[in-house]
Amino acid sequence: MEAVTTKVKSILARHDLRKRALIPILQDIQAEYNYLPELALKIVARSLEVPLIDVVGVATFYRAFSLKPRGKHVVTVCLGTACHVRGGPKILDEFEKKLSIKAGETTDDHQFTLEVVNCLGACALGPITVIDGNYHGQMQTRTVDRLVKKYSAARGRRSES
Ligand code: FES
Repeated sequence: MEAVTTKVKSILARHDLRKRALIPILQDIQAEYNYLPELALKIVARSLEVPLIDVVGVATFYRAFSLKPRGKHVVTVCLGTACHVRGGPKILDEFEKKLSIKAGETTDDHQFTLEVVNCLGACALGPITVIDGNYHGQMQTRTVDRLVKKYSAARGRRSES
């Protein structure tokens, strides 16, 4: 709790509060935690002197923000029509099996969050999965294992440094 307060105050100190730079502040908090902790939203509301409901309204309006804890890696499986007919549901099943979570959940170690989306605008490459903003087209079930290992390994390398 204390750590969140200190960190959010240091983020606020980087912004001009008179400009009510709510979105950039929320972006910085999201970048720090991968989601927007409730306490952080309360601190922001108090500091900007705006009702908490307005801060929550902005936080829920933009898809880039999450009010739920998210993993370090966000895996988004497309289940739009084009990806669906090309095997999107099988790709989702495979990720659910490999990560032992369902869509919308985060692994216990907070490394992976699994999400679904209805069309990413690149239907010709379907079925598509996006991991941390990187597009992986023409996915096959066997690709899932390789990608999970790759991103897990990336985690290992980062924590060693
Ligand atoms: S349906 Fe998946 S990218 Fe369009």
